[in-house]
Amino acid sequence: MNRRVQDHVPRLLDEIAGRVNARLEILLRSPDRESEQLYEAMRYSVLAGGKRFRPALVLLAARLVGGDDESALAAACAIEMVHTYSLIHDDLPAMDNDDLRRGRPTNHKVFGEALAILAGDALLTEAFVVLGRDVTDGRKAARLVRELAEAAGAVGMVGGQAADLDAERNPSSTVTVETIHRRKTARMIEGAVMMGALVGSAPEQKLEALRRYGRHVGLAFQIADDILDASGTSESLGKTAGKDAAHGKRTYVQVYGLDESRQRARAELNAAVNALDEFGDQGNDLRDLARFCVEREH
Ligand code: IPE
Ligand code: IPE
Ligand code: MG
Ligand code: MG
Ligand code: MG
Repeated sequence: MNRRVQDHVPRLLDEIAGRVNARLEILLRSPDRESEQLYEAMRYSVLAGGKRFRPALVLLAARLVGGDDESALAAACAIEMVHTYSLIHDDLPAMDNDDLRRGRPTNHKVFGEALAILAGDALLTEAFVVLGRDVTDGRKAARLVRELAEAAGAVGMVGGQAADLDAERNPSSTVTVETIHRRKTARMIEGAVMMGALVGSAPEQKLEALRRYGRHVGLAFQIADDILDASGTSESLGKTAGKDAAHGKRTYVQVYGLDESRQRARAELNAAVNALDEFGDQGNDLRDLARFCVEREH
């Protein structure tokens, strides 16, 4: 890994994780005794760690367009809550049937399937409470709600998860791996960048440049996830390695092999970096984050 990225990005992510984790800890306090069990299940997965890659995109994109820091932090927490819900449900026996996540037993292994489903539901819903309540500019809040809902919804993450499962179960499914990945993962990453951008006030041209960046980083991110599943260890990943091949998943590695997958991830990375041309040196943190996401080891 490029030395600057290797030194700089983990520090940047650590600093962002510190702020985001502190706020999530407050947002996820049970409001009453009756809700304690549900909140415990929500907190278990959210506060288990995770790279906080999407919150980092929100905060860095907001910084680039002069966004208000408090609103950006609310948006960062909201998307991390939706992302964590997607992980809890992704791991369920009816989906990927995984028992390790973020270095811990999966949510349903600890709390049972019913509570895991509900913890996911609650995280999804509470994310929109956070946006509606903590983003004080009402017009911006509405735009953020729409961006997050589209990214997470039927033509975004949920649609991609449905296509992913269909391709696993029906080998005759004609959906391409690129379409699956754009929907299940890239759309949420694009959404993170856009939520940061929408917190500030950027002209249309800059918004479009950031959206292009997010799309390319998002696809690169899932190609890297496929490569890590095939080449990493469960210990370093904090989740079960080798499960894609075992489940017959339609992944980049399965379709193109490891070498071509690496080339394709790199091509997406280059396109992401170039999309930020008009931001000059101010785009460097986002460029480094893109490089990190294809060169990461977990
Ligand atoms: C894992 O996401 C699921 C994918 C969309 C590839 P991350 O790799 O961001 O997982 P955490 O948040 O760091 O645990
Ligand atoms: C998951 O993709 C994407 C989500 C929407 C959660 P994967 O199924 O490959 O994610 P991991 O490898 O279990 O984290
Ligand atoms: Mg999956
Ligand atoms: Mg999975
Ligand atoms: Mg994976």
